[in-house]
Amino acid sequence: MERYRKKVLYSRDVIDERVKALAGQVSRDFSGKDLIVVGVLKGSFMFMADLIRAMTIPCTIDFIRLASYGSATVTSGKVRITKDIETPITGRDVLIVEDIIDTGLTLAFLKEKLLERNPRSLKFCTLIDKKHRRKVEFHSDYVGFDLDQGFVVGYGLDFDEKARYLPDVYVLEE
Ligand code: IMP
Repeated sequence: MERYRKKVLYSRDVIDERVKALAGQVSRDFSGKDLIVVGVLKGSFMFMADLIRAMTIPCTIDFIRLASYGSATVTSGKVRITKDIETPITGRDVLIVEDIIDTGLTLAFLKEKLLERNPRSLKFCTLIDKKHRRKVEFHSDYVGFDLDQGFVVGYGLDFDEKARYLPDVYVLEE
């Protein structure tokens, strides 16, 4: 990562504002429901913590970890679950929280797997959506930011496990 310069793309204040708006939407949509929020590790941990704290409804929390064979910046499409959720989701309302959607391969795989467990509803929330990069069709119900191009790090997002801890989102430049 040393050969890249980092430029702030979404500052912590801008992120905070978007996260609060998303939390408001989620709180309205899931009011009175039996909501389980599932974070996709590791990238979503910071976003999910902020999202939940800004929500005004109760929920239970779980995490799932997926691995895809590929390089530091590109998903191969061969995805597998390396840590499953521990909560039964049959008949319950599930919200998956992800850091970023790129090709859509990771979440398309996850959606297929979780639908086999017959949740009452299954929705997706992502901080960043690179819609134009899809290799498979995938729609996220809640989106923080739409991004046209670039590789981003910080606020949970990494480049080869680096830069997750940063409180702002940066775009990498050569
Ligand atoms: P997809 O299966 O191509 O949608 O891959 C999504 C995953 O790729 C994310 O969960 C990230 O781990 C990774 N990813 C894609 N784009 C970026 C980026 O710009 N920064 C950091 N990770 C990314």
